[in-house]
Amino acid sequence: MIEHCRLIEFSQMGDERGHLVIVEGNQDIPFDIKRVFYIYGSDKDVIRGRHANHKSEFVLINVAGTSKIRVDDGTNQKVYHLDRPHIGIYLPRLVWKDMYDFSKDSVLLVLASEHYDADEYIRDYDKYLEVMNK
Ligand code: TYD
Repeated sequence: MIEHCRLIEFSQMGDERGHLVIVEGNQDIPFDIKRVFYIYGSDKDVIRGRHANHKSEFVLINVAGTSKIRVDDGTNQKVYHLDRPHIGIYLPRLVWKDMYDFSKDSVLLVLASEHYDADEYIRDYDKYLEVMNK
């Protein structure tokens, strides 16, 4: 499961005017992007996420600042450092994720494969383990 999480490097077209990063749905991103949200202003000691999704796949990009993403499939865990605006992490469905250690300037952009549906979120870790052990 967590072996399906992976970093994605996006094309950069920087020149003397600055940087431009290109992120294309269904090409760089392995799904149709249906939803975009972003998280900023989270303190360093805050842990966000703490959920898994039955349906949604995500790509997370720290377009400014840095954060860490801990992924967990109920058996294995891995921590990714998001620290460059042209790097994203792909998370398949049913991965438990924590986002934490946000820098003050962190803007964490999230691209999602599904519209928001609270019912497809698993927010209880014991329930998540039950789902994964079925
Ligand atoms: P939450 O899932 O707790 O955020 P995070 O994954 O960063 O910890 O979402 C915070 C609130 O925002 C919660 O009440 C659900 C709501 N929300 C939406 O209405 N639509 C969305 O697309 C998202 C991501 C959250």
